[in-house]
Amino acid sequence: MQYRRLGSSGLQLSALSFGAWVTFGAQIGRSQARNLVACAWDHGVNFFDNAENYAHGEAERVMGDVIADLRLPRDGYCVSSKAFFGSVSDPAPTQRGLSRKHLNDACNAALKRLRVDYLDLFFCHRPDPDTPILETVQAMDALVRQGKVMYWGTSEWSAAQIREAHKHARANHLQAPAMEQPQYNLLHRERVELEYAPLYAEYGMGTTVWSPLASGLLTGKYNQGVPEDTRLGHDTMGWLREHLLGDSGEARLQRVRRFTRVATELDEAPAALAIAWCLRNPHVSSVILGASHVEQLQQNLQALEVLERIGEAGWQRVKAAVA
Ligand SMILES: NC(=O)c1ccc[n+]([C@@H]2O[C@H](COP(=O)([O-])OP(=O)(O)OC[C@H]3O[C@@H](n4cnc5c(N)ncnc54)[C@H](OP(=O)(O)O)[C@@H]3O)[C@@H](O)[C@H]2O)c1
Repeated sequence: MQYRRLGSSGLQLSALSFGAWVTFGAQIGRSQARNLVACAWDHGVNFFDNAENYAHGEAERVMGDVIADLRLPRDGYCVSSKAFFGSVSDPAPTQRGLSRKHLNDACNAALKRLRVDYLDLFFCHRPDPDTPILETVQAMDALVRQGKVMYWGTSEWSAAQIREAHKHARANHLQAPAMEQPQYNLLHRERVELEYAPLYAEYGMGTTVWSPLASGLLTGKYNQGVPEDTRLGHDTMGWLREHLLGDSGEARLQRVRRFTRVATELDEAPAALAIAWCLRNPHVSSVILGASHVEQLQQNLQALEVLERIGEAGWQRVKAAVA
């Protein structure tokens, strides 16, 4: 495993981390979740990503139980939570968003579910148009000062919103966001590569990027249709299927088919190659993997070796394939 600093902070995260979205508390059972965390840990993964809304809090409960059951040393791993969407299915106005009240409640609830005394990373899962950014920065600063959170950050905030948070932090001597959690993969590059470009040096911003396989699309498993027993094949995932394979779906699939052909020519598994491509970006602190089977995770964890093998000419072919 390789470890990378979270931006200019002193925290060293594994370059490959592991997240619970859709799988924990929903798609897979507890023993499978345990096997996945154990496999990740055995390969040097030290960061496990969560959120209040994943399976309405159940994903964090499973993660907390599994980590406790495996007796991972608290000073050896990092866990995150994220607040914004709420943890109940129809949240009241005070049960969601980025108000001081909800951030406080969400943090305390995540600590209980994850069975820890502090969160290593705590994210504002989306921007909240109904809360002044100053209030959010003050609330996160307070959680850091109380020792409940080590590093706070944003997820899918615009560059302008991140700048505003830093401006308030600087003016009021408050803890500034240390990281952002954006989507980043071969099919979704603009925000990380262009919009955020000035922020990395300006604020020492780290990134923990999500959906490196575009929910599995980049494995090539959807090239000839949607197989059963896959994320996009599940009844509850109609919205995601529509989002990825709806309107511009055929054009997206054409790019993926070209990419998987290049992967085959390079003699690499498409999944590991796609993840290696994310790792290539020096502004990526950690690539968060998702998996429903241990075999998938084992394959994806090969990405660092793939990164060593592929030269510039190979990456040019990958880039041309998805253009
Ligand atoms: N901040 C945010 O807004 C946000 C949003 C989304 C995710 N995240 C975080 O990022 C993490 C990763 O995102 P993600 O789960 O979307 O990642 P992903 O890598 O794009 O998709 C993972 C899914 O692809 C399939 N897959 C993975 N490896 C495979 C392989 N080698 N062969 C075949 N299929 C494979 C599995 O689904 P099936 O087996 O079911 O097909 C797996 O659950 C999440 O767990 C979460 O922690 C954050």
